[in-house]
Parts: sequence; structure tokens; C-alpha cells
Amino acid sequence: MARPSTIHVCSSCGHAEARWHGQCPGCGEWNTLVEERAPSTPGRSSSGAAARRTAAGPAATPVALRDVTTAAVARLSTGIGELDRVLGGGLVPGSLVLLGGSPGIGKSTLTGMATGNLVGAGRRTLYVSGEESAAQIRLRHERLETAPCRALDVPVIAETDLDAVVATIEHHRPEVCVIDSVQTLHAPDLTGAPGSVGQVREVAARLMRTAKAAGTTVILVGHVTKEGSIAGPRVLEHLVDCVLQFEGERERTYRTLRALKNRFGSTSETGVFEMKQGGLVEVLDPSARFVGEATGKPGSVVLAAMEGSRPLLVEVQALVSPSEIVPPRRVVTGIDRNRLALVLAVLGRHAGVNTGSADVFVNVVGGVRVDEPGADLAVALAVASAQRGIALGKSGPPTRPLACFGELGLTGELRTVGHPDRRVEESEKFGLGDPVHPGTARTLRHALKAAFQAAAPVAA
Ligand code: TYD
Ligand code: MG
Repeated sequence: MARPSTIHVCSSCGHAEARWHGQCPGCGEWNTLVEERAPSTPGRSSSGAAARRTAAGPAATPVALRDVTTAAVARLSTGIGELDRVLGGGLVPGSLVLLGGSPGIGKSTLTGMATGNLVGAGRRTLYVSGEESAAQIRLRHERLETAPCRALDVPVIAETDLDAVVATIEHHRPEVCVIDSVQTLHAPDLTGAPGSVGQVREVAARLMRTAKAAGTTVILVGHVTKEGSIAGPRVLEHLVDCVLQFEGERERTYRTLRALKNRFGSTSETGVFEMKQGGLVEVLDPSARFVGEATGKPGSVVLAAMEGSRPLLVEVQALVSPSEIVPPRRVVTGIDRNRLALVLAVLGRHAGVNTGSADVFVNVVGGVRVDEPGADLAVALAVASAQRGIALGKSGPPTRPLACFGELGLTGELRTVGHPDRRVEESEKFGLGDPVHPGTARTLRHALKAAFQAAAPVAA
């Protein structure tokens, strides 16, 4: 019988088995065995470590960092300013980029536009789709084709066989290749189903070797699982140079793109897009959008947030209504649910705003996610304003919603967050005046007092 070409290795203890087991016979963990290609010299594997120790190859020569030449790499512009900025100034030749996001968020649209732009700029590209037929891709690219984006000139293959994809890259040597998606490609020498951890890892590893050899930049599109990771817990993140996450809610038009990892740039940049009929449109001034759309009604405040290097004003809305269930509902979109629990506890304990028997809904408008402690005060003020039915800020015309930012401490104090000056500047720039923040109020009580004092008298 032929020796099996793959083994199953426990990702927890490293134990190897010829066949898959639900529970690792080595350490007893469940669901940790992942299929891998068997080592090419199986005879040595039993004493592998010893063999490696004795069979010393030629020694490498360490180089002082001072003597390392750093050639300035010419980055490739994708023609999409927001994408280039999140990448750290464009695509680095020969790098591996992972673009993750839930289905329907616009990953194929974004990569289609980028490759169309690259073709328009005279670059060689290749679009590999394992999900859609060439005819389906054509339908989408027809909508994207507006000069300089030559989306219909992008060379496409609809292929799921990894060997065929690798051969195509080696033959055509594109400068940029999109794999849509990494979960649909299939390495024939592994038995696992496409999308399984072993397959995804093997597909990415082989594509990486091919890409480095051919000097191709590869953009791997990956679907995120329910838990928010790409194909199982962090399988690919250590392998690739850059991990981009495309977020937003499918039904809403705004999408944010952020870098979770970037070997060639910062991870704090965020791009904002809007999904339109003709593809994704960059939102160059998201603050103006969100402030313009803010209602300024009871329960609405504007958070002066920082999205990477730039300030962003977003509306935070709250609704407080008597509950019929125990425990009452806590529903959030765009912020962390545990953070709301903390804010409600601090509001109740230190500011006399009790929501114990009410349903509380908090929403960051526009499908934006704010994952920063500076959002606490905005949530607190929005909830307090909703509970009392009093609008904060100046009633119109024009309405001028209240701006704020700051972290809440457990003892009811306000804590400073990064870049206060830039946040204040941004809210002044958009006519919101001086925001309530840790520099003007020391505790949550002070902040509430300042906010409600500035508020217009309650309309009858
Ligand atoms: P898609 O890029 O296919 O998402 P993903 O690859 O992440 O699964 O696009 C998702 C949605 O975007 C789809 O429901 C249709 C919509 N869409 C537009 O609104 N305008 C457009 O120009 C295109 C191409 C898509
Ligand atoms: Mg797609």
C-alpha cells in the first residue's frame, strides 16, 4: 500500500497521526488535528530533531544592520486612495495581503476595482476566482468599468485547483494577482475539503512561495467566520505581510477598511467607503457626512473619535425604553457590548442615571465600528439624553449636536484619551464648537452637568 502523503498534526501539542482523530491521542484536546503534507524524508522523521542537530549545513553569515542595504521599494498604487493609505502607501511588490470580510461586504468589488485600475495604469494583473464563473465576474466588472478603471480588461481565470493556479502565475508572472477566495482553492495532495484549516494553510503557503519567486503581489480574499476570524483562529495571519479587514453591515452603505497587521505600514489607518450602484466610492470627508446626518434629537450625540491618524466625527444614538423582560435588553451596534454594560453601571452608580428596568439600545450611525475607549462618554451622554428625553446640543436651525469624547473610569472619573487636540479641532471645524471631554470635565457628573446646561430648554 502506498504511504499516505499527508499526516495529521495536533496544533496544540504537535502530536502526529496518520489518520484524523476528533480527539488528539497525544494531549486529549478536541478538534486540534490538522492535515499537513508529510515530511519529504519520512525515514528520518522519527529521529528528526537529532538528525537536524548533527547534520549541520554550511553556517550562515550574520550581517550588521548598518550594512544592510534598504532599497526604497516602489509601491504599486491601486488607484483607490483609501486602500493605498490603509496599505501604507500602496502595494509592496512581492508581498502577500489578506483581505478579510463577511460575505457580501464588497471584497470582490474592491479587488475588481483595484485590478481594473492597475490594468489602466499598464500593470499586468490576474484575477483568480474560485467562487464565480467568468461570466458572473464580467457582470460585476461591467458596473465597475469607468475610466481609468479598465475592469473589463482584467485577465480572469475561474479555477479552484491550486496546481493550475500556481502554474498560471508562474507562466504569466502577473505583477498583482487576486485570489478570490483562499477558501475555495484546493490543494490536490491534501485530502481535506477546501476551506479546512489544513487546506487554507497549504494554499496560502504555496501561493506565498510562488509569489516570492515570481515577484507577484498576491491579494488573498478570505471570508471571515462567525467568530470573526479568517478560516479558523488566525491560521493565515502570521504568514501574510498585511491583514486587511473590510467591515460594515451589508444592508448599510458605509464600509470601513482597516489594517489589523501591516509589515510595511501602520495598523491604525482606516478607509471609509460607500457602496453605490457603480461600485465602492471613497468617502473622503466622512466627518462632514456623519455630522450632516446627525439628528440632534434626544439620545443623539456626536463622538469625536480617532480612526488611525485622522479624527472622525460619528453620531452615537441611544434609545431607552421601559422593559417587559428580565433581564432587560442591551442591544448595541458599532460598539462593544461589554463596554455598554460598564457605561450603564457607572451611570447608575456615579451619576444617578438608572436604566436597570429599561431596554437600552445604542447604535453608531452609518455602520461604523468604534473600538476605542474614547467612545464611553458619548455612549453615557446619549443614554442619559435618551432617558431624560432632552436633546443635547443646540436646537436648530441649524441643529448643532453635542460633541464629546473620553473614557470612563470605574469610579466615575473621565480619563484622557489619545489626540485630544485633534478631536477638538475636528469638532470645531465642523461647527460643533468645543466638545465635552476630560479636559473640560473631570468626572461623569461634571460632564452631564455641562451637557445638560448647554442644552436648549425642553420643547413642550
Ligand atoms: P461583493 O463584492 O460581491 O461582496 P463579497 O465579494 O465581499 O462577497 O459585493 C457585495 C454586494 O455589493 C452585492 O450584494 C452587490 C453590491 N454591489 C453594489 O451595490 N454595487 C456594485 O457596483 C457592485 C459591484 C456590487
Ligand atoms: Mg466575492
